[in-house]
Amino acid sequence: MTRHGPEQTHGPEQTVGSEQTTGSEQTAAPARAAAVELRGVTKTYGAGHAEVRALRGVDLEIGSGEFVVLLGPSGSGKTTLLNLVGGIESPTSGQVVAAGHDLSGLGEDARTAYRRDTVGFVFQFFNLVPSLTALENVRLVAELTGRGDRERSAAALAAVGLDGRGGHFPAQLSGGEQQRVAIARAVAKDPALLLCDEPTGALDLETGRGVLRVLQDLNREGRTVLVVTHNAAIAALAHRVVRMRSGRVVEVATTAAPGTADEVAW
Ligand SMILES: Nc1ncnc2c1ncn2[C@@H]1O[C@H](COP(=O)(O)OP(=O)(O)OP(=O)(O)O)[C@@H](O)[C@H]1O
Ligand SMILES: [Mg+2]
Repeated sequence: MTRHGPEQTHGPEQTVGSEQTTGSEQTAAPARAAAVELRGVTKTYGAGHAEVRALRGVDLEIGSGEFVVLLGPSGSGKTTLLNLVGGIESPTSGQVVAAGHDLSGLGEDARTAYRRDTVGFVFQFFNLVPSLTALENVRLVAELTGRGDRERSAAALAAVGLDGRGGHFPAQLSGGEQQRVAIARAVAKDPALLLCDEPTGALDLETGRGVLRVLQDLNREGRTVLVVTHNAAIAALAHRVVRMRSGRVVEVATTAAPGTADEVAW
């Protein structure tokens, strides 16, 4: 379930991309091949008096194997951006290219296949099926991609430190353990892109750290990870931090020496 590649493997001590922190940079081009590219992306919900301009022209590149944290106040468009990259929604205008697919040009079936095969999602409230065990929850989603064999799913649980807990139901697991099951579920299908919306939002510091540790490990194996959060402390782990405000990217900062989950505090 690992995705090793010479172009994707890098340690936390390396910086990614050549751009430096600036106050209001709109575009940042990482040195490595782009996993995600947004060009002039807008998203408007509703019409007339009910119109909400959630994204007002976003240009952003995320390199393959990067760990990017997206910060911004409530309503600034973070989840909207994540949903566009994940193929859950389509932009009103502009272009979203992810893992080699121009999402704007995909039909419904191809978009479904992209979501199923290429993207792993982790949400704030784990969304596990309560009547299925941890292992069954992982297998359920992995089966959609033809990767639902027991061994692979058990290995995904082991990778998030839940060896031996596969037979437990969600109600028998702590919040942090449930979130790790959700991460195992997302990675068992070996997605190129891991998209996380407030993955530690419902967790205390210590359990949150455990989850961040897993995300960082998965990134070190070569996966591209995009984490949306309110929590500025998590930004210390990222190769780059993208700040949004009112539907725009207002700052992209490269982290010279990303920290580890154990150093994070909030
Ligand atoms: N389906 C929708 N219909 C109408 N408006 C929406 C919809 N989804 C999001 N919005 C609006 O778009 C704006 C951006 O929402 P978004 O969920 O992307 O913000 P966010 O940065 O993720 O906020 P939070 O940190 O609170 O999760 C908000 O004003 C929100 O109300
Ligand atoms: Mg949100």
